[in-house]
Amino acid sequence: MARPATIFSCSACGAQSPKWHGRCPGCGEWNTLVEERAPAPGAGGARGGRSGGPAAAAARAIPLRDVRVERTPRLHTGIGELDRVLGGGLVPGSLVLLGGSPGIGKSTLTNMALGHLAAAGRRTLYVSGEESAAQIRLRAERLGAQALEVPVLAETDLDAVLATMRAEAPEACVIDSVQTLHSAALDSAPGTVGQVREVATRIADVAKRSGTAVLLVGHVTKEGSLAGPRVLEHLVDCVLQFEGERERTYRTLRALKNRFGSTNDVGVFEMAANGLAEVLDASARFVGEATKAPGSVVLAAMEGSRPLLVEVQALVSPSELVPPRRVCTGLDRNRLALVLAVLGRHAGVGVGAADVFVNVVGGVRIDEPGADVAVALAVASAARGVATSPAPLACFGEIGLTGELRSVAHPERRSAEAEKFGLRQVLSPATAPTLRAAVKAALGDRDRPVRAA
Ligand code: TYD
Ligand code: MG
Repeated sequence: MARPATIFSCSACGAQSPKWHGRCPGCGEWNTLVEERAPAPGAGGARGGRSGGPAAAAARAIPLRDVRVERTPRLHTGIGELDRVLGGGLVPGSLVLLGGSPGIGKSTLTNMALGHLAAAGRRTLYVSGEESAAQIRLRAERLGAQALEVPVLAETDLDAVLATMRAEAPEACVIDSVQTLHSAALDSAPGTVGQVREVATRIADVAKRSGTAVLLVGHVTKEGSLAGPRVLEHLVDCVLQFEGERERTYRTLRALKNRFGSTNDVGVFEMAANGLAEVLDASARFVGEATKAPGSVVLAAMEGSRPLLVEVQALVSPSELVPPRRVCTGLDRNRLALVLAVLGRHAGVGVGAADVFVNVVGGVRIDEPGADVAVALAVASAARGVATSPAPLACFGEIGLTGELRSVAHPERRSAEAEKFGLRQVLSPATAPTLRAAVKAALGDRDRPVRAA
């Protein structure tokens, strides 16, 4: 069978070439050529139309008010946190990209979701290019009877997968993962940009026709970007990111893009012996586990539109190293550097010659400036060797370069969450205008010189 011709187009300047080049002959950029299927002869695209094809009849634009909207009921995955992040469940005919590092629980989550749907009488299909059917069964055995009901196809050939999707017409389908499928139309290896794009485009086509809701699983690289799958972001309706650390139990699920809902919601899960369990009372757990020892502070964070109390811990220890270590988990390293600089310059807590370790407990990742004050107070508390007093407190606020505390979104919801869990003292930009004032309020009046404990 003759294979359709392929071309290589530059992702920077759009130049096309029948051959692959390391350097684009058009713009001179390196490694920008991506393999694509050549358009069928005579097919008129945007470019073809311009080159003198028959003029198409003008279509009529209609006012938005007259556009008919069909409210299709969503598919409920039976996992409340997943449904919430999706904006109320899976939309038929939509494409959802689920990204996350290996071992985080993507296969577990998707298998559980299909299991619930299958038990609710929906047609489902689980396509795995990664694991054998036997391996998937072993996982499903841990997840319970529902998960074992899901029909599975262990296949890496895209055409075979598409044929099965057409034949079975599932209402919900998981492709695990988009990087393992391979289209014979392209020469490049599975997982390359050209292949990933081709796989997703053709699956989207079938999904739209049959009304199948597709969950595409994609691996992320160490740097945290959806390499490969990143090129799919504009093509899919929804991008979900599954985060956490493999060794820890807590995982967060957030939407980076959502055509059918907000990107503010975050789901919290816990990996248990029998699959992922939803954590509905995350604040209670984190506050309950907080040590209240020197170096421990509770942060009233916002995870999307949901307030979440998490413990931030710091350790400050004398160092022989030049420069000393700055290690943080669950936070941005550059943000830690900034906080330490302001702490030293404007609040009298210098940790220049000490190793500093900061950790957001529970494997949660906090990506908001509101965490600054918590990091600063945890470091100050660790450096002085005194716990925050008199009672355990919660805090939030951004730190400015001149040592002031700056307001962040939803102060009242953060304070309410803290109060709900018994943390009556809340340090915020409203109660402490500067970082110096915040350190004083949290750690007392001792203005003695600070040495690394
Ligand atoms: P998996 O879903 O395979 O991750 P991914 O598809 O993202 O690579 O699961 C990852 C880990 O979760 C694996 O190391 C085993 C663990 N696990 C549990 O702890 N409990 C369970 O019930 C299951 C199914 C997996
Ligand atoms: Mg997997």
